[in-house]
Amino acid sequence: MKFISISEAMKSGKGKVAVRGWVYRERGSNEFKFIILRDSSGIIQCILKRDKFSKQWDKIDKLQIEASIEIEGTIKKDKRAPTGYEIESDKINIVGVSDEFPINKDLNEELLGDRRHLWLRSQKMTSILKIRSTVIGALHEYFRSKGFYEFQSPIIIPGGAEEGPTMFELDYFKKKMYLAQTWQLYAEAAMYALEKIYCVAPSFRAEKSKTSRHLTEFWHTEMEVAWANLDELMNYSEEMIKYTVKKVLEKNKKELKILGRDIKKLEPTLKKKFPRITYDQVLKILNDKKKMKVKWGKDLRTIEEEKLMELYNTPVFVTNYPKSVMAFYKPKDPKNPKTAKCFDMLGPEGNGELIGGSERETDIKELKKSLRAKGEKLEDYGYYFDINRYGAVPHGGYGLGTERLIKWICGLSTIKDAIAFPRTATRTEP
Ligand code: 4AD
Ligand code: MG
Repeated sequence: MKFISISEAMKSGKGKVAVRGWVYRERGSNEFKFIILRDSSGIIQCILKRDKFSKQWDKIDKLQIEASIEIEGTIKKDKRAPTGYEIESDKINIVGVSDEFPINKDLNEELLGDRRHLWLRSQKMTSILKIRSTVIGALHEYFRSKGFYEFQSPIIIPGGAEEGPTMFELDYFKKKMYLAQTWQLYAEAAMYALEKIYCVAPSFRAEKSKTSRHLTEFWHTEMEVAWANLDELMNYSEEMIKYTVKKVLEKNKKELKILGRDIKKLEPTLKKKFPRITYDQVLKILNDKKKMKVKWGKDLRTIEEEKLMELYNTPVFVTNYPKSVMAFYKPKDPKNPKTAKCFDMLGPEGNGELIGGSERETDIKELKKSLRAKGEKLEDYGYYFDINRYGAVPHGGYGLGTERLIKWICGLSTIKDAIAFPRTATRTEP
């Protein structure tokens, strides 16, 4: 018989089926063995009656969680079974036996982290990984549907990027090199050829802080567009987030349910326009509504972002942060020259910064001035000055922390669960 997936078997709902997978749960008596079988599509209860399997009974009786098996039998509806169907088995083939599976509900987060390679098989991680696949697929679809080209930049770079101290250093044939924190500075070069580009690729940050939203290796969804201003960049990012959330709600209702995610919390994001407020307005709102006094001139801290976001149920754009604390490439806003033409998109439900973006400075003198003020070495930026020498045009882009988006969509308490094998300052294995 041809094997079909468990979800296909349940869809057909009657007659003979052949399925294969892993033992998710098992219990037995003298007369029966109940096996909940798992494959990537779902779980189903299978019953094996001793009188049909007298020759194999010893082995069937000893089957443990995660043993791999093939089963043929008759499927029928059964209200008592966990997913509403049961297969009465005629044939079983034990493919791979299993040792005692070292995962159980009593393990703490650290131990589950150590056994991540096995924990991935859980319904929780399987659901998250399916949603992650939808999210990354949707991001590609979104940009391609808008006429963007996918462009790749080097990961090993000679230096110069967001902020010096968070770069991983590399011994590159005795020369110091670094792992890229962003695609941006190379993307700006390619933007002059392709005009609208994007990528979804790993970025690296030597973040020592242990928080629920920092990884040292994360998947960065970035875009860069010629001729675009700040409003257009925000429009793209809002449309991109709405598109992605909509795709997950279309494709992954079942997985969101397994995760216990309240999907009503995602619905306002599809229906409402995301508010756009300035940094100055944020300070006023925090003062008036949250009795928080924040001194003008610093980047917003996590606690301030969280307090602000208690007032909203969709992502919010904050624009015009103080120029002096922003990356060197963010230009000042002529309408308010102490601030930069930049935005962060903050996520609801305590998820903080999802996206950072800006228009780009094209005046080489201004770029050098900002870099000097930050104590950077100008020689690291030679090629970057050069791209602005030949027909510079207004342009801009943004970067999304893909795991932060997945964390919010899935309602996870830590970003570590938004990726299969997380890397943080303290988590390097498996
Ligand atoms: O705000 P950031 O540092 O901006 C840039 O890197 C720009 N060059 C992007 C661009 O304009 N092309 O990072 C962008 C986003 C943040 O908003 C955050 O969501 C995510 O990347 N991010 C991290 N995600 C997980 N772990 C970390 N350590 C992260 N650092 C940044
Ligand atoms: Mg940022």
